[in-house]
Amino acid sequence: MKKLMVGNWKMNKNGKECTEYLEAFVAKYSGRREAWIAPQALYVKLVINSPLKAGIQNCSEHVEGAYTGEISPRTFKEMGGHFVILGHSERRQYFTENSRNLNPKISTALNEGLTVIYCVGETLKERDQGLTLSLIEDQLHQGLNDQSKATVENLIIAYEPVWAIGTGKTASPLQAQEVHGFIRSILTAKFPAFGHQTRILYGGSVKPDNVEELLAQKDIDGGLVGGASLKARDFLALCGDM
Ligand code: 13P
Repeated sequence: MKKLMVGNWKMNKNGKECTEYLEAFVAKYSGRREAWIAPQALYVKLVINSPLKAGIQNCSEHVEGAYTGEISPRTFKEMGGHFVILGHSERRQYFTENSRNLNPKISTALNEGLTVIYCVGETLKERDQGLTLSLIEDQLHQGLNDQSKATVENLIIAYEPVWAIGTGKTASPLQAQEVHGFIRSILTAKFPAFGHQTRILYGGSVKPDNVEELLAQKDIDGGLVGGASLKARDFLALCGDM
């Protein structure tokens, strides 16, 4: 499988900026690495209409009904959407998400035919206390428990150490590989048919000048990128195209 770079634009970019970005990106994109983008949900159609795969940054655990303000994974799929990022640390921190209540969202999204990028990662305090691996194990077990619809195509894990998100501090390639290798061992035990091939992305201050050494690690299959995905030039560089 090709390496995969996913741009998580968070709550950034207006419509004009999205359009200009996509034009600039597509003009130089070779397809050497896969490139997916999750813009603000309100502009997702612009990405759906581009050659890139489009994602949302959250979705409902329900497919329809009286859930004011929610985004239906069924509707998104029907529009041509491809993936959903679930369990991002900002959702866990600000919107009361946790691995237990993410479990049904993951199930619904998989049932509706979306690819789920499930995010896990520790805070600096948890790392300093030596809790990184046990915490990640819990996040994986709780979020992925009973996900019988998961396949090698529709489940992706993103390891995003919270202390590395938007801080400019990246986990060293060896620090990241240690956790990715551990995630790989859990996935292989949990999903014997495909866990050894499941894509595991690294996220947290990925930039053009550190991406290659991260991607050189055995169990790092791509990146989930915030800040550096906001400039078409930088995202092209992350995709190996500059
Ligand atoms: P940064 O790349 O800005 O550190 O953000 C990472 C992230 O949160 C991607 O989901």
